Amino acid sequence: MININEPYFSEQGVSDVVHAIESKQWVMGENVKKLEQKVCSLTGMKHAVAFCNATAAIEVALRAIRPHRKAQVITPSLTFRSAITSILRAGCEPVFADITEDYTVDTNSVKSLLTEDTVAIIGTDMFGFPCHASKLREIADTAGIDFIEDASQAIGAKSQGVHIGRVSDIIIFSFYATKNVGCGEGGILATNDSVIYHRSKDLRQGAIYEWEHSYMSETVAVGTNLRMSEILAPLALDGLNNIYDLTAVRRRNASRLHDYLDTPHPHNVVGKLSSWNTYPILHDDRDGLVEFLGKSDIQAKPYYDYLLNYDPLYQKRFAWQETPKALEISKRIVSLPVHHKLNDIHMKFIAEKVKEYEPATA
Ligand SMILES: Cc1ncc(COP(=O)(O)O)c(C=O)c1O
Repeated sequence: MININEPYFSEQGVSDVVHAIESKQWVMGENVKKLEQKVCSLTGMKHAVAFCNATAAIEVALRAIRPHRKAQVITPSLTFRSAITSILRAGCEPVFADITEDYTVDTNSVKSLLTEDTVAIIGTDMFGFPCHASKLREIADTAGIDFIEDASQAIGAKSQGVHIGRVSDIIIFSFYATKNVGCGEGGILATNDSVIYHRSKDLRQGAIYEWEHSYMSETVAVGTNLRMSEILAPLALDGLNNIYDLTAVRRRNASRLHDYLDTPHPHNVVGKLSSWNTYPILHDDRDGLVEFLGKSDIQAKPYYDYLLNYDPLYQKRFAWQETPKALEISKRIVSLPVHHKLNDIHMKFIAEKVKEYEPATA
């Protein structure tokens, strides 16, 4: 089976995990710190805080910016479900923006949704493709709000020659099993803002306190335990140490697929380098294609065949918002594998099977 993704680990990574187990320092030791430092050097951010997953990191990021009671957060409707749960758990109202042809958030849609209660915009790097970060930065600055980049799928992606994360207030990565760099479960946020950093660290560990002299005088925000495992961190670090080689293989596979399928692809853009978490295409009979590819031992995934503005968590509580482009795309989009264990032969096989599929006519 050609899986949609495969985990990466080297002998060094495995030996570092064994070492972490044997060291008996299973929480908040040197491995998590090294991972945080590595993400800082990759993104150019001053601070990073690792979590048990990226969903927790998004929630904490939102809580760290101290949203007021009626705060609204704008996010694309075509994204992973964490966006809605994290926004709600942070006590905010989700507001759904439409997307463009490249599957990332439409900056005009974002602008049209700003209100005096908007506190943050989440720009998601869909399938690893960098969102329109400079434009979102500009919008956030004009509105005096925060720009949070959900780069859960995009570690290794570059924009204008540098790793993404240079223009966001907070950037978030996931180390979930299917990500380019995974360790099973894990996530991290990075920021230049020392207040957000300290609040995030406190929320990961229990609560934010007002400190008076040497004792805690008052609890100002209740967190919970969201720590990352010291045993898993070496696996994520292992992947990050090899991130550009891993991304190069994905990029090569994506460009082969692009040639074999011979259709324009919105993520082949000069100045932006996708991390190619997957290779999304549009197909009129998406579900039929997914089934057909499955029978040919190719795991294709309908990422994302749902939209968050259709989620009951949202529909029952908030005013309805249309996202027509996202709706149209969600009916046709399908992700193909281009991961680091695949080569030209696999890409040719996948492309041939995609072309071979003919939907049954009614
Ligand atoms: C865009 C996006 N945001 C957030 C997440 C949540 O990551 P995690 O599974 O680490 O909580 C994912 C993971 O699938 C994702 O793809």
